[in-house]
Amino acid sequence: MAQLRAFESAAKKGHEMPEIVCYEKQDDWGGQWNFTWRNGTDKYGEPVHSSMYRNLWSNGPKEGLEFAEYTFDEHFGRPISSYPPREALWDYIDGRARKSDVKKYVKFAHAVRWVDFDETSKTFTVNVENLRTGETESGKFDHVIVGTGHFTFPNVPEFDGMETFPGQIIHAHEFRGAESLADKDVLLIGASYSAEDIGTQAYKMGARTVTFSYRSAPMGYEWPEGMEEQPLVEKFDGSTAYFINGLQRTFDAVILCTGYQHHYPFLPSNLALKSPNNVYPANLYRGVVWEGNNQLFYLGAQDQWFTFNMFDAQAWYVRDLILGERELPSREEQRTSIDAWLERFHALKDSDDQIDFQADYIRDLIEQTDYPMFDLDTVAEIFKRWGRTKKEDILNYRDVTYTSVMTGTKAAQHHTPWMLEIDDSLERYLSTPEGDEVRDIWEGREAAQPR
Ligand SMILES: Cc1cc2nc3c(=O)[nH]c(=O)nc-3n(C[C@H](O)[C@H](O)[C@H](O)COP(=O)(O)OP(=O)(O)OC[C@H]3O[C@@H](n4cnc5c(N)ncnc54)[C@H](O)[C@@H]3O)c2cc1C
Ligand SMILES: NC(=O)c1ccc[n+]([C@@H]2O[C@H](COP(=O)([O-])OP(=O)(O)OC[C@H]3O[C@@H](n4cnc5c(N)ncnc54)[C@H](OP(=O)(O)O)[C@@H]3O)[C@@H](O)[C@H]2O)c1
Repeated sequence: MAQLRAFESAAKKGHEMPEIVCYEKQDDWGGQWNFTWRNGTDKYGEPVHSSMYRNLWSNGPKEGLEFAEYTFDEHFGRPISSYPPREALWDYIDGRARKSDVKKYVKFAHAVRWVDFDETSKTFTVNVENLRTGETESGKFDHVIVGTGHFTFPNVPEFDGMETFPGQIIHAHEFRGAESLADKDVLLIGASYSAEDIGTQAYKMGARTVTFSYRSAPMGYEWPEGMEEQPLVEKFDGSTAYFINGLQRTFDAVILCTGYQHHYPFLPSNLALKSPNNVYPANLYRGVVWEGNNQLFYLGAQDQWFTFNMFDAQAWYVRDLILGERELPSREEQRTSIDAWLERFHALKDSDDQIDFQADYIRDLIEQTDYPMFDLDTVAEIFKRWGRTKKEDILNYRDVTYTSVMTGTKAAQHHTPWMLEIDDSLERYLSTPEGDEVRDIWEGREAAQPR
């Protein structure tokens, strides 16, 4: 969506639009934000793409992801809170893209099956299946831009004895809602965003206990009673998990929050990015140009502090390369640049360093283009403050508000504290409820299940 918007923005300034086709395997756009109740396979028998769950709210402040050329104020017409539910964010990205009339370039329900590059003609052949008709087609392209995301193909480790566990074992990719975890003892393996957020959802929906199991390091938050972190699970025997510190505990459900793989099944190995989830995947000049073939680009391949506005910065830069507004340096200079960024990347000590690194990376891209520069240092500070608020109060950090660097607008306080808000719909989010019915429901539940 960022790439289409970037081309359209250039067209409005008088550039000739190249011939563009965007293949999207789902029936609508929005990627991860195009939520589905399905898991496993979609209605076409394809692997379900989105890893989002019904009650997902943004886990970072929206002031960190705001588009510089389509603000939240412009979309919603009034201040909203800093941590919107997923429907509100889908509405925002959909609104921006709809405004620019780029949907006409998208062939929906078209899955890219295989991409080949011909060294003689220097063109790609892209083979695609129309999922509605089953017909296959192929097209020739000078450039291919991969924007398929990298939080879809789960990393699924195995622990001894898992096959004897009588309850449900799922990966976070398949998780769709925490309501069924009420009164359950839940084990989450992993120590990053999915573990933290799904564990919190489980607690919010009344899980009896929530146990996190970490491999490298605990998240280290001050968890309330009933939530705790333990080191790695060694094995399972029936419903009992054995941890490496000797602890044994029984569970009703296990959720593997063990991350995702970069996986591009439609690309030959010489074109497919192979990387762990980090802020500077190797072999991408300026984080977007495939070193081995400069006609191939990747958007959003990085681990993400910044998201939507970083994708824009990347898309604007890729657009200018394709339109001939910018020239790529020689292969040697590209490697020198990649090495310099990698050297800095390897020296990053903590999350604050990573945030500054990503801010500098985006600044470098925006400086090459006409994308509106924004106050990246202040956004970096917002991300760092976000980290501190989580340390202070992991259950209630979503009640904090920030000020937009794009508009100067201070976010509104959501009408209901996040821990008490059990209706995640856009309608409820934008409403002005009277009385305190949610608090009443919550207090009723608290009375029924004292923690
Ligand atoms: C559970 C979860 C929660 C998140 N929450 C937040 C958040 O709160 N705030 C935030 O800023 N970011 C969040 N993110 C990060 C998220 O990655 C980005 O916000 C964003 O959605 C990434 O955009 P993308 O276009 O790179 O990839 P995606 O959103 O994954 O979109 C990729 C698109 O490619 C399509 N596709 C894939 N393969 C093919 C194929 N072979 N042929 C055709 N089409 C194909 C998919 O159908 C999909 O529409 C979250 C991610 C996850 C997994
Ligand atoms: N509400 C929200 O908005 C929300 C909710 C969930 C996720 N997300 C987004 O989704 C994306 C992915 O987050 P993620 O947490 O799924 O992935 P992630 O950040 O890549 O973290 C993966 C975790 O899995 C652990 N792990 C990997 N292999 C393991 C193994 N064999 N045994 C034990 N632990 C293992 C890793 O531990 P090590 O440290 O040891 O490697 C790490 O803690 C992020 O962009 C995040 O922001 C957002």
